[in-house]
Amino acid sequence: MLWRERRLRWRTCTLRLLALCLAALLCTHFTAELKRRALPQPGLTPKVPGAEVYNRRLEDVPSKRQVIYVRRSSKAASNGRQGESGRRDSLQPARWHIDLQPWADSSHSLEEEARRFLHYITNSQISCSRLMTNGLTDNYLDSMKPWKVCLDNKFSLAHQIRSKQCRVYSLGLGEDDNVFELNMASGGCEVHRFDPGIPSAHIHEAERLWHHRLSVDWRDPNPAIAPHRLHSNTKKLKTILNDFGHWKIDVLKADMESAEWKILENLILEGVMEQIGQLVLEIHLHWPGFEVSGNDSSVVRYWYSLFKELEHKDFKLFYSFKDLSKPQMFLKKEVFNASSCYILSWVNTRWT
Ligand SMILES: *[C@@H]1O[C@H](CO)[C@@H](O)[C@H](O)[C@H]1NC(C)=O
Ligand SMILES: *[C@@H]1O[C@H](CO)[C@@H](O)[C@H](O)[C@H]1NC(C)=O
Repeated sequence: MLWRERRLRWRTCTLRLLALCLAALLCTHFTAELKRRALPQPGLTPKVPGAEVYNRRLEDVPSKRQVIYVRRSSKAASNGRQGESGRRDSLQPARWHIDLQPWADSSHSLEEEARRFLHYITNSQISCSRLMTNGLTDNYLDSMKPWKVCLDNKFSLAHQIRSKQCRVYSLGLGEDDNVFELNMASGGCEVHRFDPGIPSAHIHEAERLWHHRLSVDWRDPNPAIAPHRLHSNTKKLKTILNDFGHWKIDVLKADMESAEWKILENLILEGVMEQIGQLVLEIHLHWPGFEVSGNDSSVVRYWYSLFKELEHKDFKLFYSFKDLSKPQMFLKKEVFNASSCYILSWVNTRWT
């Protein structure tokens, strides 16, 4: 009898404790939320957290089971930071879809959509007086892909490099060489490369170059999936920024093998583009891309609309490269003299 009573008492105790924890958690969350709403928004003040913050945050991430709690707490923390530094995007309402541009013409034909899109990606919108290929040194071979950044003094990157406050994120799937990353690091930038294929969770390769075994996705893993099946090495860029305590990326380089469309859409919808100074992106046109559906003309209209969203956020294209070494295919057909692969570079002209 006694043991049964004792067990019952224990159970009540545990339940109470659990309820208390939950209440405390909710309380913290709501307080942070209230604080965020109540705080006035001062001007944009750059704030560069040091490497300690980044290291601490990595240690903060304990086990898969605690992922949900970690996310919530890091979100609350970053909301506090947003209040202090006055990031504009924190006030923008959540968006669920991008704005589709009107059709190129009333026929909705693939020809017209492709003509408009290809014209867009092959004409730069702003000139750059100091284009750098593959980073900040002249260590460059013609056989390499031309990842271009702009060091024109009219844009912030040149100044950020001079004051050693430059941060580069590189998203890839391990197929590229590391020349861009190594050069940017030796030029004084803090470089984070995200690649799901590396052998350990974090590798510190050079003084300012880190590799992380993470792949960037356009959505968070579904918490309903059993933790052991959860692909916890997959995160949204916004989540990674929060986890690392970073709020700006001077250069985002990405070669996502056809996942670029949904990732770009996610960055636009979640207001992450505002945190990016220059975007260097490889795009793939031989098929619609992961989770992009519709007939051919709708697909091209969607691609175009994504780039118009960038333009709307004052991103200007300063470099376009047509890769003639890849199949010359556009949506599975050899048409429009197009390549299946282009590398494009934009600069965020709000960052000057
Ligand atoms: C493609 O689909 C859209 C609607 O989803 C339609 O308006 C358009 O006419 C279609 N285009 C072609 C060429 O069939
Ligand atoms: C096709 O593209 C190549 C490379 O961009 C260019 O040199 C050539 O003039 C183009 N051909 C036509 C017919 O436009």
